[in-house]
Amino acid sequence: MTGIKAFIFDLDGVLVDTAEYHYLGWKRLADEEGLPFGRLENEALRGISRRESLLLILKDRLLPEDKIQEMMERKNRYYLEFIRAVSPADMLPGARELLLEIRAAGMQAAVGSASKNAAQVVQQLGIASLLDAISDGFSVTNPKPAPDLFLHAAARLGLPPAACVVVEDAAAGIQAARAGGFRSLGLGPPERVGAADLVFPSLAGVRLEQILKKLD
Ligand code: BG6
Ligand code: MG
Repeated sequence: MTGIKAFIFDLDGVLVDTAEYHYLGWKRLADEEGLPFGRLENEALRGISRRESLLLILKDRLLPEDKIQEMMERKNRYYLEFIRAVSPADMLPGARELLLEIRAAGMQAAVGSASKNAAQVVQQLGIASLLDAISDGFSVTNPKPAPDLFLHAAARLGLPPAACVVVEDAAAGIQAARAGGFRSLGLGPPERVGAADLVFPSLAGVRLEQILKKLD
């Protein structure tokens, strides 16, 4: 018996491919500002808060706070434009099926996302009824890799970390899960999520039974 009673899903890059839209938003901003930024640099931004992401793009360039705020708002405007068309059809392969299996098994599910846009994306995906809690960019102060966001979600579910599996596509997210005492399922290449208890390329074809068996 695994003692697992719930799953806490990261959102961007786990349930929906909005990770690409975050990239495109930052890319547009970086191009406008003449800052060097591409897909390689973007890998380090996965799962990282909006502010931390901008600071990583700026590297050692020092800017006044009002300029930083303006750039974060501009990137978010671009992101909101990109996600306008997000619909239930944009769920990543296997994600909805796993949420349905979790419900059918009487287990709980939550979203633990660093994004301040998480609630809107959840609503556009039409999965709110499959979730018992949403912890997002407004829920805690310390961003991933601190465990705070997942601890917030576990508390909302009324469960200890050891009873929850965190599902993540980011190295910072797996680090956060481990720091909080959660079980972890990493999605993506082992170079990125290899520190997780269990690693799959994606959720495509992944069954609940299979996860529970492998974590046993
Ligand atoms: C995470 C994404 O889920 O949310 C990051 O992986 C993003 O790329 C972060 O920067 C914050 O999102 P937002 O929507 O609040 O800017
Ligand atoms: Mg993610």
